[in-house]
Amino acid sequence: MTPRVDQAELKRNVALAAVDAVMPSLGAGAIIGVGTGSTTNHFIDALARLKDRFEAAVSSSIASAERLAAHGVRVIDLNDAETIAVYVDGADEVEPGGALIKGGGGAHTREKIVAAAADRFICVVDESKVVDTLGAFGVPVEVVPMARRSVAGRLRALGGEVRERAGFVTDNGNAILDLHGLAIADPDALEAQINNLAGVVENGVFAVDRPDLVLVGSQQGVREFAPLPE
Ligand code: A5P
Repeated sequence: MTPRVDQAELKRNVALAAVDAVMPSLGAGAIIGVGTGSTTNHFIDALARLKDRFEAAVSSSIASAERLAAHGVRVIDLNDAETIAVYVDGADEVEPGGALIKGGGGAHTREKIVAAAADRFICVVDESKVVDTLGAFGVPVEVVPMARRSVAGRLRALGGEVRERAGFVTDNGNAILDLHGLAIADPDALEAQINNLAGVVENGVFAVDRPDLVLVGSQQGVREFAPLPE
């Protein structure tokens, strides 16, 4: 019997597949968008070996920027990037239509910004992240600190349970509230509804802008999640 591949290995395998997927985007002047998290860390480590084949990276977090820089990859500000050929990032949940929950690491605001700025978004997950309906992970919500209480009340009114990430401060200086207990039937609607609350900076539902490609690391190898809607 073939031994089971552990989750860390699945993450590494799918990250290596993502490097293959970005190959056509490399070249002189190419800017690569880089996400945050343990799966993306594998991607960074592998991408760095190709650092002479692209111009620079735009990072979605301080942690990833530091990891890229430690490998000698040039990291530039999003405002200095003319175009981003491709953005690669992990996720906490992905549903059959390709909508995601992200933000387990609290970086979803910058992740959504860089993903939206990129020509192409490739999402990399291990098979434990594939779900029928989003919600069991909880929805991370970045909140301006003075609005923690008021936003928590509004989120509770949506029917969920709200937990504040104690002692956690985002790269943007804000707090994170995690909204648990929802089975998200309409991710587009919930994403917009939460972002409409005064004091919310961004939430971790990625439905309006979905990935162009989802790669899934599984016991049977890396597979593509396709077809995804436009
Ligand atoms: C960071 O805020 C998140 O959006 C991550 O991309 C997500 O939590 C996936 O992380 P792992 O790759 O560590 O599972």
